[in-house]
Amino acid sequence: QHPKDLAGRLVVISAGGTRERIDPVRYLGNDSSGKQGMALAEEALARGAEVVVVAGHLDVPAPRGAEVISARYTESMRQAITSLADEADVVIMAAAIADYRPANQTTTKIKKIDEGDETTLRLVSNPDILSEISHRPDRGNVVVGFAAETASGAALLELGRAKIRRKGCDLLAVNEVGEEKGFGRDENTVSVLDASGEVLAAVSGTKRDVAEAIIDQIVRTL
Ligand code: PMT
Repeated sequence: QHPKDLAGRLVVISAGGTRERIDPVRYLGNDSSGKQGMALAEEALARGAEVVVVAGHLDVPAPRGAEVISARYTESMRQAITSLADEADVVIMAAAIADYRPANQTTTKIKKIDEGDETTLRLVSNPDILSEISHRPDRGNVVVGFAAETASGAALLELGRAKIRRKGCDLLAVNEVGEEKGFGRDENTVSVLDASGEVLAAVSGTKRDVAEAIIDQIVRTL
């Protein structure tokens, strides 16, 4: 039985993958299913929180009891998170957000070229939502990021430490990702770092087990 240690708290969770339009029928995307974000939403609800899920593309439904705001594209996710960040007690950025968008978006379908010919898609870097909400002056809430890295062991943790310094959040859940890891799976392996880079918890299990460990650390930080 969970303690209701998030009673009276508003927890905003981004989940799933964002997309970027290339043309009216094509997009850039990623393999995030939203399972980790939904497990966090379930755990936060079980512990008494009011939960808002800001949902990119999801392969799984949001839990009953969570309010869902649909934000399939990076800019709509940015707007939704930014407008909720002030009132939220906790913001957890579990979404896999597109780092790049096409430099030019056409309103007509891009034409096929001859087989074997090359073409180029120019990309520009997107704003970093986690960094923006973490660096707001007088921020009073707990902001939690994720780091998805294709490294392992000590190298993975070093990438996580560099990322939490850069992004400025309070806690960072570092997970190794790859074809058979992280994205889309039912299990996950996560280390939770604090702002000084110390490992507060390390957990391997279902995404709900991981969510429980992350929320334990959030409650201690609140
Ligand atoms: O959805 P699942 O299939 O269950 O998979 C779970 C997961 C692997 C997607 C999840 O556990 C995870 O790691 N989510 C974060 C994925 C990611 O985009 O990581 P990153 O290292 O590229 O980004 C670091 C952090 O910055 C993340 O909190 C991300 O939400 C945030 N970010 C990234 C880019 C950007 N432009 N703005 C951001 O806010």
